[in-house]
Amino acid sequence: MPVLVTGGSGHLGANLVRLLLDEGRAVRALERRESGREAFAALDVEVVSGDLRDYASTLAAVRGCERVYHCAARVSSADSRHREIYECNVLGTRHLLRAALETGVQRVVVTGSFSAVGHDPARPSDETMPVDPFERLLPYQRSKVAVEHECLKAVVEGLDVVVATSCAIIGPNDFKPSRMGRVLLDFARGRLRAYIPGGFEFVAARDIVEGHRLVMDKGRTGHKYIFSTAFHTVDDLMGMYERITGRPRPRLRLPPAAMAVVAWAVDVVARRVAPDAEPRFTPGAVRLLRMQRRADLTKARTELGYRPTSVEAAVGEAYEDFLRRGVLARR
Ligand SMILES: NC(=O)c1ccc[n+]([C@@H]2O[C@H](COP(=O)([O-])OP(=O)(O)OC[C@H]3O[C@@H](n4cnc5c(N)ncnc54)[C@H](OP(=O)(O)O)[C@@H]3O)[C@@H](O)[C@H]2O)c1
Repeated sequence: MPVLVTGGSGHLGANLVRLLLDEGRAVRALERRESGREAFAALDVEVVSGDLRDYASTLAAVRGCERVYHCAARVSSADSRHREIYECNVLGTRHLLRAALETGVQRVVVTGSFSAVGHDPARPSDETMPVDPFERLLPYQRSKVAVEHECLKAVVEGLDVVVATSCAIIGPNDFKPSRMGRVLLDFARGRLRAYIPGGFEFVAARDIVEGHRLVMDKGRTGHKYIFSTAFHTVDDLMGMYERITGRPRPRLRLPPAAMAVVAWAVDVVARRVAPDAEPRFTPGAVRLLRMQRRADLTKARTELGYRPTSVEAAVGEAYEDFLRRGVLARR
């Protein structure tokens, strides 16, 4: 029976599909008609057209699968586009889980987001910490909290669901490319003019994919598990980019408080000029960087045997993959 992966053309999904194929599994991918097919080129994957917002096509994709990895989501740090984010992420997950219940799927692993884990400045965040609903949250963050709610409702109804929570992903097979991929490309092309200090938990693509596999095999029903590789400051990251690309970091290191104001102004203009484009630089992204949140990985380590690798190695793999695919020219 094939394993279904949603979001297989996305950064995480493309890496997960490759791991499953390497393990010798038959893989089916649910993809929107509009999706780029580059992620599946030369891969032995059954691609089924559909949209999570449409129950009938979701049901057709799920039918006949025992295991489902639900990685698809509208990922965005914009303060706008609520409706699309809500429909893809929350209603889409509801459809997927309903279809899984209806067709007798054995287990669904749903990708969660670290931005939907609570925050306490005094200690690293773990799986027990709920998000404060009165905090300023991005539509995407709210949607990922609601996704977990959908998962718990499905568990109550008898479905076996586990959440694999991801931090900011870095690594190869980044076809769109992702926000982190675009920063690396700009850096490697000498087009990154400035950066903002701050920090975040980053996860290597190989680690978050391994996390999904571990959760599928050993995770407890109704639980979530946080996967990160390491916390790094943006200065650390710039050092890695310098070593890997051979380019110097931008000289402008901008104060985060000032950048929060600039990001707000850029966001207002971007919403008018290009409302459908995913903005590169948003107040929400600056806010997350400034929070410098840490993750506590005890649960994934002790229950699942999770062993993270290295963010620098993941940056290297992402860079090599961009070179190999001709996205970047070798210097
Ligand atoms: N990237 C990160 O740093 C990060 C951090 C934390 C959590 N996560 C979580 O990790 C998961 C994967 O993220 P990613 O970085 O791989 O995202 P991504 O590269 O943007 O890919 C998202 C995938 O979801 C698909 N999708 C979106 N809406 C859909 C819909 N209505 N119906 C069917 N497919 C739909 C997209 O298809 P199209 O190509 O057609 O748009 C794409 O294949 C998400 O659940 C995200 O919330 C990611």
